[in-house]
Amino acid sequence: MSEFIWLIIRWIHVIAAVIWVGGNLTLAMVIVPYFRQNLPPVQRINILTQIGKRFEPIVWGCVVVLLFTGIANIFQSIDFSSTGESAVISTFMRTLFIKLVLFIALVILTALHSFVYGPKLASAIESLDETLDELPDEIKPIRKKMSIVSSLMGVISILILLVAVALRMGL
Ligand code: HEM
Repeated sequence: MSEFIWLIIRWIHVIAAVIWVGGNLTLAMVIVPYFRQNLPPVQRINILTQIGKRFEPIVWGCVVVLLFTGIANIFQSIDFSSTGESAVISTFMRTLFIKLVLFIALVILTALHSFVYGPKLASAIESLDETLDELPDEIKPIRKKMSIVSSLMGVISILILLVAVALRMGL
């Protein structure tokens, strides 16, 4: 395939990575802390649920794009016909494996966040007064789970970038 097509595939891969990972980190580092400081909890969760719903189709689109362009990148990065460089190929495969494990972990956490804990938390606060200063005790465990899942998503997002750079550097 021409170099230009490979360039476009890699470009799309990086765009999807930036949107997904960058979006996760912007939410975790800017938007959530801002709301935490400035809004009461029920109102904050309501707004974050709306933002999450907006972001969701973009995220799943990025997941699909990353998978397909990632598979294409594998074919571009490795010359499977050469046997002389098997050490290089096995290092590449090891790092790629780590990247895929992190990718799958991030997909699972994103699904838990979007389809399990997020909707549970949203329905638990549905009938509550938006001006409440503190969440009722029975809602705290599900909120705690949401914040653990979100933190893990932030950490894994950063780690995937580290592994992507390692892959690029042949480490
Ligand atoms: C959140 C998920 C992902 C992120 C953040 C990510 C990020 C990146 C970045 C930043 C690059 C470097 C582009 C370059 O310098 O050429 C890259 C390259 C690459 N990615 Fe991903 N990627 C993700 C998912 C995947 C998946 C799911 C696969 C495999 C199915 C994959 C396979 C590859 C390969 C093979 C390369 C080229 C490595 C090389 O030859 O240097 N990526 N990725």
